Amino acid sequence: MKPGDTLTVMAESLSKHGDGVATHGEVEIHVAGLLPGETGDVEIDYVSKQKPRAHAQVLVRRNTHPGRRPAPCRHHGRCNGCGLMDMDLPSQRQLKRVELERTWGIMIDRLVGEGADGRGYRHSSKRVFAGSPGRIKLGSYMRGTHNVADMDGCLVDHPDIAAAADELAAAANAVRAVPYDETDGEGDVRYAWFKTDGRGQVLLAIITAEPCHTTVHELAARLTRPCGIAWGVNARPGNDMRGTTLRPLRGRQSIAIEFEDPARGEAIVTHVGPLGFLQPNPRVASIAYHDLVRVPAGGVLHGRTALDLYAGAGVTTRLLRRHFTEVAPCESFPESARALGAEPQLVEEFLGNILADPQHLHRHPDLVVANPPRGGLGTTVCDQLNLLAAPRLNIMSCAPASLVEDLRRLTGEHGRYRLIGARGFDTLPQTSHVEVVVWLVGRT
Ligand SMILES: C[S@@+](CC[C@H](N)C(=O)[O-])C[C@H]1O[C@@H](n2cnc3c(N)ncnc32)[C@H](O)[C@@H]1O
Repeated sequence: MKPGDTLTVMAESLSKHGDGVATHGEVEIHVAGLLPGETGDVEIDYVSKQKPRAHAQVLVRRNTHPGRRPAPCRHHGRCNGCGLMDMDLPSQRQLKRVELERTWGIMIDRLVGEGADGRGYRHSSKRVFAGSPGRIKLGSYMRGTHNVADMDGCLVDHPDIAAAADELAAAANAVRAVPYDETDGEGDVRYAWFKTDGRGQVLLAIITAEPCHTTVHELAARLTRPCGIAWGVNARPGNDMRGTTLRPLRGRQSIAIEFEDPARGEAIVTHVGPLGFLQPNPRVASIAYHDLVRVPAGGVLHGRTALDLYAGAGVTTRLLRRHFTEVAPCESFPESARALGAEPQLVEEFLGNILADPQHLHRHPDLVVANPPRGGLGTTVCDQLNLLAAPRLNIMSCAPASLVEDLRRLTGEHGRYRLIGARGFDTLPQTSHVEVVVWLVGRT
């Protein structure tokens, strides 16, 4: 197979970027513009030397997926944020279920989602400054490049964030701010982080590369929409969007986010700072958090001690405190850890200390809850959890690939747990992302 070849293939699944994935002999072909079940005549435009993989474009589509629609966003295709936008929402959800089962072997009892259009749900959003002074745009990196696609009028961002981003872009143009250029390391304004409570309050963090000669103060003075603005500096190359320092410029430095479980009428209000972790879709995440501290059928868990690993903004910590006498959160990000009254600490170290001391107060927890980042728990933490052998372990995962690996370590031959249930949560409609909660019980 070589670039320029044409062939006819049927897409069987969808990649996380929204490309149809077909197989041809041993080769996996990713086809932009083909949905699962659609057959097309395609032209190969790239063949990988490392993997049996090729990329192709559709020349002629021979049939149409019943859920296909014209993507509602004008940036679709350039902005890679919403890979599933060519499908309607019911088809997206159906596809997520199928992919979890077929690709990862994760059988969920249901996929929980909210809303009929899957728009305006993002309560947190990050943007990259790009363009030139006076012609600045705020957008996101295009796949595999440092080229930036405009996100002006983004349909999945909460309208309050979309309006605050428009105002920021206009202000940056008015003060002729210089966007940072990743290729030569020159420039000033770099990233913007937005968070909203969904009721008009927007918190903004601006990250600049310039520590001294920056336009950030002039920018902040012009903005009327954010209720609080913070400034961080990151002068190093690379995609780390957090600044190394963060200082308040004006207004409030946290916002109150309400996590309510609509079915049970319980709400937790938590305060999140400008760079703290916030699930982008608090409405659906709320339901996931409430499930995470329960049993699959919905019953409440009680006990003496619960550990809350990767506690972030602390929603689960607070839910657990309603029913457990002692709840120990562990979180490495300083801003979030301190808000929980804990010192920032890595889970590896936290569990290592508990396991090293047989008399440790937390050596025999009744429940362990874990919500790790994309990389999952990993070998060390899974080994530690196997040694801890808690009677219950509830995990929330944002990446099925790492979840499957963790489940193999926890429930396989050397594991001390058994899987009793799994549920999916459609926290990011229009994207292939799905959040999964799994419930495990100790084997002995
Ligand atoms: C997916 S978030 C979940 C946060 C929280 N449970 C929530 O839903 O709001 C993962 C969190 O783990 C933290 N984190 C990442 N690696 C960590 C580690 N090795 N030890 C402790 N915390 C870590 C991050 O700062 C982040 O807050």
